[in-house]
Amino acid sequence: MKKVLVLNGSPAGDKGNCAEFIKKISKLDKSLKFETVHLAKTAVNSTLKKKIAASDGFIFVTGTYWDSWGSPMQKLLEQMTDLEATPAIMGKPCAVMVLMHSVGGKSILSRLQGVLNTMGFLIPPMSGMVYSLVSDIALKSKTTHAKDFWQIEDAELILENLKTAMHMEVDWTSWPVDKKDPSRKWMKA
Ligand SMILES: Cc1cc2nc3c(=O)[nH]c(=O)nc-3n(C[C@H](O)[C@H](O)[C@H](O)COP(=O)(O)O)c2cc1C
Repeated sequence: MKKVLVLNGSPAGDKGNCAEFIKKISKLDKSLKFETVHLAKTAVNSTLKKKIAASDGFIFVTGTYWDSWGSPMQKLLEQMTDLEATPAIMGKPCAVMVLMHSVGGKSILSRLQGVLNTMGFLIPPMSGMVYSLVSDIALKSKTTHAKDFWQIEDAELILENLKTAMHMEVDWTSWPVDKKDPSRKWMKA
């Protein structure tokens, strides 16, 4: 059974909307083994890094906070920099799911996919979605435009694409990365 690590970047952790969304999507595919990490309450330490290394695929989930992903997600990106281009993540597929009230989510989706891909993750086609409170309300009224709105059900096909990508075996080449401390100083007064 393929292992999917769900990384919740919401500052509200297991108490927020992202946590509720994760509960919904984790029920959609019984052939996958899901494990959720609420980053708001979890240190990005060797335990989490081992968990990342042992996973076959990932779902990065975040809300939209002033046009950005959640601060726990940013902390993860900063503190997992040492995993860049390593076998722990290289070529492993990830889905990205963003919640919002109304605006800003699509740019987060695109930017986060860009960051993750640069780090070494594989972005399968149609593996990202934004789900908004606005859509949630709009979808309660029947509309012929509904197919063009991202909806919870789209997570099912995203999981299908994630699964397909997890079964791919490709020997990717990685560029050399500077393995010294990336936070070391380069500016002199
Ligand atoms: C501090 C804060 C800032 C937010 N900024 C935005 C925003 O810029 N655009 C938007 O559409 N929704 C915004 N929202 C709404 C959240 O993205 C949305 O409710 C999301 O589902 C929150 O998930 P959470 O409860 O897991 O944190 C904001 C919410 C908070 C708490």
